[in-house]
Amino acid sequence: EVWNPSGKYRVVSTKPMPGTRWIRLLSDQDCRVEICTDKKTILSVEDILALIGDKCDGVIGQLTEDWGEVLFSALRRAGGTAFSNMAVGYNNVDVDAATKCGVAVGNTPGVLTETTAELAASLSLAAARRIVEADEFMRAGLYDGWLPHLFVGNLLKGQTVGVIGAGRIGSAYARMMIEGFKMNLIYYDLYQATRLEKFVTAYGQFLKANGEQPVSWKRAATMEDVLREADVISLHPILDKTTYHLINKESLSIMKKDAILVNCSRGPVIDEAALVEHLKVNPMFRVGLDVFEDEPYMKPGLAELKNAIVVPHIASASKWTREGMATLAALNVLGKIKGYPVSTDPNQ
Ligand code: DGY
Repeated sequence: EVWNPSGKYRVVSTKPMPGTRWIRLLSDQDCRVEICTDKKTILSVEDILALIGDKCDGVIGQLTEDWGEVLFSALRRAGGTAFSNMAVGYNNVDVDAATKCGVAVGNTPGVLTETTAELAASLSLAAARRIVEADEFMRAGLYDGWLPHLFVGNLLKGQTVGVIGAGRIGSAYARMMIEGFKMNLIYYDLYQATRLEKFVTAYGQFLKANGEQPVSWKRAATMEDVLREADVISLHPILDKTTYHLINKESLSIMKKDAILVNCSRGPVIDEAALVEHLKVNPMFRVGLDVFEDEPYMKPGLAELKNAIVVPHIASASKWTREGMATLAALNVLGKIKGYPVSTDPNQ
């Protein structure tokens, strides 16, 4: 699909993206916009090389693509200097290789904060109240009347929510769980989450002033403290060498037997095979997973487990957010082509 065919700058998007604002932004600024409409969900390096071709000024790519030296040097050879991932996470992008080739890299922070946090909150609630299991039970025609023990789950109010990685998304999630469900907070981050801390302090004062029971919060000295103490744990770190398999057999073993673990960050943060084994022997332990170690696949056994809720990497999938991500990605590429600053922000 081609927009503004006579545009001076050739910008390629490896996927159709929601909305039209991003297309208008580029075509109004003298860009010829080419959108790959290949039905394949995941494009190979060869597919992308063919898209780059001989002349290409910038590319908007996706988190399913492997952007390394081969692609960046091809883009540079084609005259390109700009690449944007349509995602906040950019573990699929070798930024050093891009820099070496003279290609600027952008990502799309900010616009997906609340949407992603909302999915983490949804998975936390769905796991606590066993919503998916109960839905399957109804559809299977198994409901034959109210029973005192039917799908009894956990009350979140007064329990402790644990956040690992308190950047934008982790902090937004923490706020939702504190304010919405009056949970106590324990969080772990390498940096101090100043805005989150200001919020919890002010919220605590508000509750006190209104004669309501205050919520407690603390910054944990170690991640293990969060794992040991929290009832619901949500993971929000970036994926890099230090967070690969952050949650493994050992860390799972120190969590409460009936804890809930939610992951809307990146699949490899959890050792998924170890998680499957843990879920099998701890039926009260529940997970809500948006991401998987080898997407689009799940580790054997996971799909059969009743104590796991699995959704296909949809944390940022609200219309507003996806259109915003597309627009930001277009602005990143346009900015580099036209000499404006490009946003690359590792703080998710
Ligand atoms: C991101 O932006 O990194 C998300 O995973 C996309 O939903």
